[in-house]
Amino acid sequence: MAFTVRDHYFHKAKKEHFLARAIYKLEEIQKKYGIIRPGAKVLDLGAAPGSWIQLAVEAVGPSGLIVGIDLKPIEHTFPKHVITLQGDINDRDFVDSIIREKAPFNVVLSDMAPSTSGVKVADAARSALLFERALEIALAALKPGGTFLAKIFQGSEFHQLLAEVKKHFEKTRVVKPEASRKQSREIYILALNLKDK
Ligand SMILES: C[S@@+](CC[C@H](N)C(=O)[O-])C[C@H]1O[C@@H](n2cnc3c(N)ncnc32)[C@H](O)[C@@H]1O
Repeated sequence: MAFTVRDHYFHKAKKEHFLARAIYKLEEIQKKYGIIRPGAKVLDLGAAPGSWIQLAVEAVGPSGLIVGIDLKPIEHTFPKHVITLQGDINDRDFVDSIIREKAPFNVVLSDMAPSTSGVKVADAARSALLFERALEIALAALKPGGTFLAKIFQGSEFHQLLAEVKKHFEKTRVVKPEASRKQSREIYILALNLKDK
């Protein structure tokens, strides 16, 4: 059964008018690494309901661009420099057309999560597939020097995928933000400085 844990970050997000508690995970990473800079172009995969977009809007400023994609509609109204699209990142024609029209990006974010079954191995495998596809999109959409940040559930695929990321980026970090629930197996791989092809 799906349920919402109403913890400290949930209430903080409500009070501060953010769309989801997830914002505090990106906020922590942004504070430490400054990955989203003024004027940047950001592609946000799995962006609904839109709290990461809320943070990115402030970080890029009006000269930047944010493209947010999700299976679900993103209902919030954002400023003009935000484009929100409903679609599946596994739909190649859909993603290719975004890349053709809007790339190159400075940053590709993915907070995508599969619908979970409660079976850890199966959920980790689904999360790994989303991560792998996010990496593929990042490699096609980023500028050299670009940044990739993506969520993955820890499981047997994790080390192989981390090794794959390391082949393409100068620096990688594995991050478990404070706002990520301790009992959750989610973790983020942050990859900095995409190598020139
Ligand atoms: C944890 S939520 C993202 C929260 C978001 N970062 C925010 O701050 O509001 C994960 C999202 O991934 C999306 N997602 C999962 N699989 C997807 C897919 N194949 N294509 C696009 N979005 C997907 C889900 O619909 C869900 O909205």
